[in-house]
Amino acid sequence: MIDYSQTIPNNVDLAGDRTLQRALEKWQPAFLNWWNDAGPADTARLEVYLRTAISVDKDGWANFSYVRMPEYRWGIFLVPREETRSISFGDHRGEPAWQEVPGDYRSTLRRIIVTQGDTEPASVEQQRLLGMTAPSLYDLRNLFQVNVEEGRHLWAMVYLLHRYFGRDGREEAEALLARRAGAQDNPRILTAFNEETRHWLAFFMFAFFTDRDGKFQLASLAESAFDPLARTCRFMLTEEAHHLFVGESGVARIVERTCELMRDHQLSDPAEVRALGAIDLETIQKFVNFHYSVTLDLYGSEVSSNAATYFTTGLKGRFEESKLNDDHRLAGDSYPVQEVEGDRIVTRQVPALTAINARLRDDYIREIQAGLDRWNRVPQQTGVAFRFTLPHIGFQRRIGNFAQHHISPQGEVMTEAAWNARKYEWIPSPEDNAFIESLMGRVIEPGKFAGWIAPPVRGIKGKPIDFEYVRFN
Ligand SMILES: [Fe+2]
Ligand SMILES: [Fe+2]
Repeated sequence: MIDYSQTIPNNVDLAGDRTLQRALEKWQPAFLNWWNDAGPADTARLEVYLRTAISVDKDGWANFSYVRMPEYRWGIFLVPREETRSISFGDHRGEPAWQEVPGDYRSTLRRIIVTQGDTEPASVEQQRLLGMTAPSLYDLRNLFQVNVEEGRHLWAMVYLLHRYFGRDGREEAEALLARRAGAQDNPRILTAFNEETRHWLAFFMFAFFTDRDGKFQLASLAESAFDPLARTCRFMLTEEAHHLFVGESGVARIVERTCELMRDHQLSDPAEVRALGAIDLETIQKFVNFHYSVTLDLYGSEVSSNAATYFTTGLKGRFEESKLNDDHRLAGDSYPVQEVEGDRIVTRQVPALTAINARLRDDYIREIQAGLDRWNRVPQQTGVAFRFTLPHIGFQRRIGNFAQHHISPQGEVMTEAAWNARKYEWIPSPEDNAFIESLMGRVIEPGKFAGWIAPPVRGIKGKPIDFEYVRFN
């Protein structure tokens, strides 16, 4: 169970390590300052119907109650240690999992943890102003739930830095609070986490596409030979599932609203859809293209010697590594990756060890495609002909095999000029964003929803849809 009597709730016996406890208690007010400065704007007095973990097992989410967000009990929660856990892949396969950081891998592991940790506060910063334009109390509550849990994910990584990386770790923990999403002088580490999240369509897309990248990164770290990292990522994954739900169901509800209007008014012209205050499916497709391509960059280069090293040394496994049926070393195996050759895209076999990033990305794409298939049931059931598709993996990439190329959503290699001439057919234009922003207005009457989004099928934790999920006092 989690001990909530402590200043920092935890299940790692923090009280048994006074030095560590003091160091983290010093970081805690800095975290709260960051939350007040960069977290959800103007929310200090709201009471939000939030879940708080009371234990780390499957039923640990039993606790839902009204919480003032600055009083949310952020803490340190790891799934319990399995005494007999052994390393399941790489050169150390079969050896006992590490309880301390091996000296040889210290700086690499620290970098992995810092990079993951940096994404957590970044998304909170990106979403800072969204509460001002929430389409309903239900959605406002979901946004805040995601925000407090991303804050807790930061705690998860900061615990590891403080506990296992000494002075370097403490300095990195401070730097995690100093960087800011989108800042010129001190930006977040990864590009996708410096993009603006200007409105709720972008937020739902982010939660669908980018939080799902988070899921896959956490899943591969949950296989790590470094056991404390694996254990903390396992618990983070249970929190992540709700974020994915918020994204997928949010987009589905927008699509539902649009398709119902199209059916009821016999519309197919996007301009007519917009005139009714809804978001046309063509524009939604542009956001799919944008968020998908930006998120694919988070997987890094398709062929990467760093990724090979992370795997062979046991730092980062594949998605569901322990369930895969091979030798878990991949020494002689190959894996197909795409690249540009002249004016076309070809598939080439490369050593599987170097293609670990491409493989994780492909696993991710399978889940994303399944999500799109679920979205497509909505136009199908309302008799609308439109279907969402994923652009080619080379579309609008800044990292990896396609970085210096200009690829259309259909996978044609284009000149830069030809691509630029058509780009706003494919990704949101400033006008598209301005239109969507023009729809955003705050709806906070219980049970009411903005006109561009359908209500959810059900409320949170058995509560009705018109429940007062957020109280303004
Ligand atoms: Fe997270
Ligand atoms: Fe998340």
